[in-house]
Amino acid sequence: MNDVVEEDFELTAATIGKIEMPNEANFFIDPRSDAQPKGKPCMTDYKSEIKVVGRARVLDVTPEGEKEEVTATTTGVAMGDPKAGRTIFNKCKSCHVIDSSKNRAGPSLQGVFGRTAGTYDGFKYSKDVKAAGKTGLVWDMKTLSAFLVEPKTYLGSVIGKPKANTRMAFCGIKNEEDIRDLIAYMKEASAK
Ligand code: HEC
Repeated sequence: MNDVVEEDFELTAATIGKIEMPNEANFFIDPRSDAQPKGKPCMTDYKSEIKVVGRARVLDVTPEGEKEEVTATTTGVAMGDPKAGRTIFNKCKSCHVIDSSKNRAGPSLQGVFGRTAGTYDGFKYSKDVKAAGKTGLVWDMKTLSAFLVEPKTYLGSVIGKPKANTRMAFCGIKNEEDIRDLIAYMKEASAK
């Protein structure tokens, strides 16, 4: 649900149109004349067989049955390689900007180190992330490392739920070295 609908929301043909997606305002009809379709849409010569060539695995939106339970381990504070981390940050870029104050689908990560969770100005957080901030969760190397392994489980552990209902639709990064590299990059790139 990712905090988009209430827990008791019932999805039916009648209610589906009432869901307000958080990124709705960023989708619009392109008004530029050279962006309009040319002529009539072609409805011949299409493929008769559909083959799945890729899945949105990174965003954790393709159900794969029961997932293995992953516990959020707090990886050491050892510094990783920021250059390698920059590439790993590509996974976050669709939703986060780190070197400016702009919010996307996710809050800007500029100045995230030392920031209380759920408090970036002008971003509409889920209830659970705000609750985690109220219990005193501050983003630093240790908390970020644990969060990024399995965001929902980690936030849940902070607020006393098995899994938090966060709007961050991201399955986490399981490789400890990747986490260290990513954090090293974020530390550099997020500095104001
Ligand atoms: C699909 C979009 C998406 C992706 C991909 C994503 N995030 Fe997020 N992120 C969000 C959203 C939305 C929130 C706000 C969550 C909420 O309010 O529940 C968030 C919150 C956060 C927060 C907490 C910020 C705060 O101000 O409390 C951090 C830190 C964060 N993300 C880091 C990352 C990193 C690092 C990556 C890549 C490894 C990443 N995110 C990938 C959407 C995303």
